[in-house]
Amino acid sequence: MTERLVIAIDGPSASGKGTLAKRLAAHFGLPHLDTGLLYRAVGWAAFRTGRAPEELAAQLQASELDNPELRGDEAGQWGSKVAANVEVRANLLKLQKEFASKATGAVLDGRDIGTVICPDAPVKLFVTASPESRAERRYQELRGRGVDTIKPRVLAEMAERDRRDSERAAAPLRAAPDAWLLDTSEMDADAAFAAALAFIERKGFRSAGP
Ligand code: CDP
Repeated sequence: MTERLVIAIDGPSASGKGTLAKRLAAHFGLPHLDTGLLYRAVGWAAFRTGRAPEELAAQLQASELDNPELRGDEAGQWGSKVAANVEVRANLLKLQKEFASKATGAVLDGRDIGTVICPDAPVKLFVTASPESRAERRYQELRGRGVDTIKPRVLAEMAERDRRDSERAAAPLRAAPDAWLLDTSEMDADAAFAAALAFIERKGFRSAGP
């Protein structure tokens, strides 16, 4: 019997981890959880309602994750603020652990997947890229969605969020010691997918599909 495939993907914002996670999930026919959405949903709801983020995290429903407003930079900043709260993290842990333990296997992406959520995952990727190329991607993505912004602002907001995510005491953004580092600064989405797939296949995992 082959080992259950759990792919843990971590990295800073706009490193390409979300796109990579989606593509790997589709390739291997695995369910995918974008864990950043959980923090975005809690941060956004706390900001909109004034309710305690710990309470919101404990009661989070999957239906709340469909809100398109969660994709914006404002929700990202609120998400990163509540993500430093130990109780919020603890209240989101069970949902993530359950998702990761599905019999089918799973793909999860975030900041602490390889270190906290799935420390035993057989495949761990840490996706990075230079701040300039990440800011350029985020800028293009925002422009594509019709958001009016300028590059220096995107770069500054990203740097602020990276700093908060890396310096916080609770589950800071770190590569797990056994994670494979993938620098996508000079890669497009296809090249990043090909590199990650080759790594996973070297570990003996193959898609069950045609
Ligand atoms: O899409 P992007 O990478 O910019 O952000 P995201 O993955 O949606 O995450 C939003 C925020 O949630 C991050 O800035 C982190 O502070 C927090 N987060 C976290 O603390 N742990 C995770 N596993 C995922 C996200």
